Amino acid sequence: MVMRNVKDGLHSINYGMYVVSSKKGDKINGQVVNTVFQITPEPITVATSINKDNLTHEFIESSGVFTVSVLSKDAPFKLIGLFGFRSGREVDKFSQVDYDIGNNGAPYLREHTVAYLEAKVIKKEDLFTHTLYIGEVMDGARLSDEVPMTYDYYHKVIKGKTPKNAATYSGGGA
Ligand SMILES: Cc1cc2nc3c(=O)[nH]c(=O)nc-3n(C[C@H](O)[C@H](O)[C@H](O)COP(=O)(O)O)c2cc1C
Repeated sequence: MVMRNVKDGLHSINYGMYVVSSKKGDKINGQVVNTVFQITPEPITVATSINKDNLTHEFIESSGVFTVSVLSKDAPFKLIGLFGFRSGREVDKFSQVDYDIGNNGAPYLREHTVAYLEAKVIKKEDLFTHTLYIGEVMDGARLSDEVPMTYDYYHKVIKGKTPKNAATYSGGGA
């Protein structure tokens, strides 16, 4: 149980909204995360925190690659709901969206997406419920001039919730 004042502090941290995707054999899948950040400029590395129960975790473990699609502010809740509240174990998420396959074999979104970054895992850290993946960015592109969506905008304007498997879940679905 996280103390209330700690929760208030955690809620003040800023994030963006992303879909992290991967592949396993010829299967592809992805999930919403708010946890993506750049670590180093040379080589370019980024990190993301993925729950061990998620299908995307299984796919990253299998292929050693992931791709980050940066969601735009106009991304509808339907898209976030598909990738953030449903598992690829029950639905073929990419069959319902416009996407392409990158050079690392993982998919990236072509709708409501500002940019994508293709990474290969160079390090990972087992952290209780989640694995922190550190990826070296091998490729990527800007896809539109749209404004990226922030986690704060998702909560305040879209009035979205954060499910239990999220890295920043704090109980009560806030
Ligand atoms: C706003 C939001 C942020 C999320 N952030 C994370 C995150 O940082 N890490 C994580 O593992 N799951 C996060 N999730 C939860 C996953 O997207 C969710 O568990 C998803 O259904 C997993 O799908 P999969 O089983 O197909 O991989 C987030 C969901 C939402 C809606």
